[in-house]
Amino acid sequence: MAEPLFLTDLVLAFVLAVTGGLLGRRAGRSQAQPGSAQREERQRPLVLYVTAGVVAARLAVAVLLLATSGWQLVGHRFLLGLPVVVLPLVWALVRRTAVAAHTTAIGAWLSFYFLYVPPGPQDLPIAVGASAIVLATTIGISLLLGDRRSRGGRLARLPWLSLVASVVTAAALGSLFLVSESESMDWGGGPERTGHSVHAMGHRHGAEAPAMRSVDELTGPREGTPDARFTLTAAHSTVRLSSGRKIDALTFNGTSPGPELRVKQGQLVEVTLVNKDVAEGVTLHWHGVDVPNAEDGVPGITQNPVRPGERHVYRFIPDRTGTYWYHTHRDSERTVERGLFGALIVEDGQQGVQRNVFTHLWPGGGKDQIGAFGTADTAERRAIPAGSPVVLRLINSSKEPHRILLGGTPFRVTAHDGNPIGEPGELKPGTDLFLAAGGRYDVAFTMPDGAVTLRLDTSEIPNKAGLAFSPDGRAAPAELQPGRLFDRLSYGSRTGPKPEGGPYQRTFNLVLDNGFGFTGGSFTYTDTINGRLSPAVPTLMVHEGDRVRIRITARGIIDHPMHLHGHRVRVLSRNGEAVSGSAWWTDTLNVAPGESYELDFTADNPGVWMDHCHNFEHAESGMIMHLAYDDVTTPYHGPAH
Ligand code: C2O
Ligand code: CU
Repeated sequence: MAEPLFLTDLVLAFVLAVTGGLLGRRAGRSQAQPGSAQREERQRPLVLYVTAGVVAARLAVAVLLLATSGWQLVGHRFLLGLPVVVLPLVWALVRRTAVAAHTTAIGAWLSFYFLYVPPGPQDLPIAVGASAIVLATTIGISLLLGDRRSRGGRLARLPWLSLVASVVTAAALGSLFLVSESESMDWGGGPERTGHSVHAMGHRHGAEAPAMRSVDELTGPREGTPDARFTLTAAHSTVRLSSGRKIDALTFNGTSPGPELRVKQGQLVEVTLVNKDVAEGVTLHWHGVDVPNAEDGVPGITQNPVRPGERHVYRFIPDRTGTYWYHTHRDSERTVERGLFGALIVEDGQQGVQRNVFTHLWPGGGKDQIGAFGTADTAERRAIPAGSPVVLRLINSSKEPHRILLGGTPFRVTAHDGNPIGEPGELKPGTDLFLAAGGRYDVAFTMPDGAVTLRLDTSEIPNKAGLAFSPDGRAAPAELQPGRLFDRLSYGSRTGPKPEGGPYQRTFNLVLDNGFGFTGGSFTYTDTINGRLSPAVPTLMVHEGDRVRIRITARGIIDHPMHLHGHRVRVLSRNGEAVSGSAWWTDTLNVAPGESYELDFTADNPGVWMDHCHNFEHAESGMIMHLAYDDVTTPYHGPAH
């Protein structure tokens, strides 16, 4: 519901900008004639009524959005985007003066501007203040022009007034994008960083400044013989898809997906990363495993990228069982897509035939993407004996969410992002799973006599991928139609102790949006966090032991799979509806257009952590923020994705 309304509003705001311009022009003309600004016009200006109609339509959209998605999503429209035009418009309708019309024109442009360059919640007061100043200035200039109509003349005919005011506003607010680095940004009333060190103010339980630690000190166990030891060598190679298509790929140990790393909870794991010839540099990030900060594999924060010919050793003890994955974190928009990823399974006691199924989009040249299960981009057949328990570990290694269709058997979702689900109920065949980019679902069923089919929904990315499991391995994948969507909110039941709630020492309000901004030196329509792009997105500052609550809302028109490193996050509610099933733990939460989530977690893993959109394209264009502990600093710098 939200998405079409967002789009409608974008169009309406554009129309409003045009009618606003016409209104300003008309007001200028009338001002240029004798009688001046205060004179009421006799005729009924059509353009004013058209403007009023468009504004009314925008109001209706906002009310509909409010009714369907809530205040989180539209609050800023009622507080800023609409008043800037509604108030002058009412004035212009009541008193048909050129001054009122001018002000309405500027208001329309402001309203347009705030929809296309939406300010984050922390910038709302500034934006309201700036708008008031711009509107007041407009009134002043318009009065001045009206009084000196000899000078008004040609100049006043043009909507130049709007132009000047808008450029000024744009410059003022646009500069917010450029405001320094995240280090200098500060959450209202919260902590503050000085130079390269971090300290909290007005919040800490103790009073004196904490002793600072470097990321480098926060390693896994450096001593001791590892229980599991692996070497992953990153290198250029060719990957052959089932269609025969060859991908100019990057691989770990010659394959992509890379080798499965299977370990046990509590074991000391040691992985040596070797970069043979990947010029971009490589790191290993253990997606979903809350390793100590120095083992997290984020270039520019926890280590330097591993250059060709170099190596790096990671040591950590996985503390939870489940399905995880590893991938490089360097230039990830291109290098993960080209193959630098693999499964990391921390044995969880699930029995039977186990398969890791990556949903991946391979680069097909240009904008082309080839949807596949692992390397299977066509119909594939596999044998599994009838009656066997089967566990499919679905891992989304692509940058897009996938709707996965599963037919041929009832099944259960036994784990989500590595977290077991309490009392998972049986789902009908034909129940679709929506898997966030970076997310995982474990799916379990008993192999029937017939075939079980997996497919990727083709509506967003056309693909021919299809996986069929059958007792003799000969059945072709069935054609499947999208069915009902699995709802995580109500699935399973809560087992075990009630998770800890508040009180919360920290609350963060995050708004994901679309807006124009500067990214990588160019001006584009992109994805923002609180109206800003990395590195200007404020850092989330915490103190070790804090209970942290986050509200995250997607006001834009695109899905954002938000991934916090180093911490497992619990979903409390979605659009105000509380989680009623099994506790919903996640590391990668897809926030769809119009969705608003309440989350919480405990700050129990000190470090400087990435919190970013796992659509690598969005991350690259600036959808990155950090979670930093007030006593940790990092000696590294450079791009972190
Ligand atoms: Cu799976 Cu920062 O990424
Ligand atoms: Cu995103």
